[in-house]
Amino acid sequence: MFKRFRRLRANETIRSLVRETVLTADDFMYPLFVKEGNFEKKEIASMPGVFQMDIDDIVKECGTMLEIGLKSVLLFGIPDTKDSVGSECLCDNSLIVRTIKAIKKEYPQMYIATDLCFCEYTDHGHCGILNPKTQSVDNDATLEISAQQAINHAKAGADMIAPSGMMDGIIGVLRNALDENGFENLPIMSYSTKFASAFYGPFRDVAESAPSFGDRRTYQMDVANRLEAIEESLEDEKQGADILMVKPALSFLDIIRDIRNNTNLPLAAYNVSGEYAMLKLAGIHGLVDYERVMMEKLLSMKRAGANIIITYHAKEACEILKNQ
Ligand code: PBG
Repeated sequence: MFKRFRRLRANETIRSLVRETVLTADDFMYPLFVKEGNFEKKEIASMPGVFQMDIDDIVKECGTMLEIGLKSVLLFGIPDTKDSVGSECLCDNSLIVRTIKAIKKEYPQMYIATDLCFCEYTDHGHCGILNPKTQSVDNDATLEISAQQAINHAKAGADMIAPSGMMDGIIGVLRNALDENGFENLPIMSYSTKFASAFYGPFRDVAESAPSFGDRRTYQMDVANRLEAIEESLEDEKQGADILMVKPALSFLDIIRDIRNNTNLPLAAYNVSGEYAMLKLAGIHGLVDYERVMMEKLLSMKRAGANIIITYHAKEACEILKNQ
């Protein structure tokens, strides 16, 4: 005798009754890129459908998002001035600060997580400040100014801080700084397991944040390491992270599952720019059924164990879910 699995696949009603994983609009967080100035929103060649926007357009975009049930953004800033320490993001009238305030004024219900890093703000494009002797990122000096950046975001009204620079010890430092400044209820979503991946290529076009020399392998993780990936996330949990993350998502679904099995914290998956661009281009060229492949890959991230999916597909996915 063999088991007849096809019994429970006979029609959509029974299939939906036994379906184990279901995507909803609540699963998604949408990355937005605000750029200094007053200009027509500018589409990124390597990421069709993704734009650099000025503050006014970001606010409008938030309105569109809310209409389709998309309630949270991950905010990135592209300043017009860069220097060796990223001063722009340390001042209390920074681009991100002004953007948070503008969004909250119009749409107080929009949930704003802010990416906290230095690569968009430094002239060398690294995720922290450099040790002048070694020209390598100075971990502990970067921690100090990261706290200042976090407090700026918090004071402006951010709902969540998301440090992405992969500096050791950053979660503990940010938690202390937030607590000492009266933001003990502000959650931290750590980019806890972030790999030195080639899939970030298109993002660096959008965020204008490619390193001017070298690479990020002294702070981001070796893509080959599975046990270290778990350790990285568990260490951030110990330091007080509220949400953990695996980034990128698609080539790292095994890691999402590993971490899911090792923690009870909520887990985010970042479906990064290169993953988006590859599918987008395949869709534009008619090579695959774009919408079905997109939903399948987003579902795979949730099935792997992610509770939150950060994705440039979020608007398209919500439109599809709304019309189902
Ligand atoms: C900044 C940052 C990066 C991404 C998110 N935050 C780029 C990087 O580490 O070089 C990548 C996002 C994407 O590729 O979609 N540190």
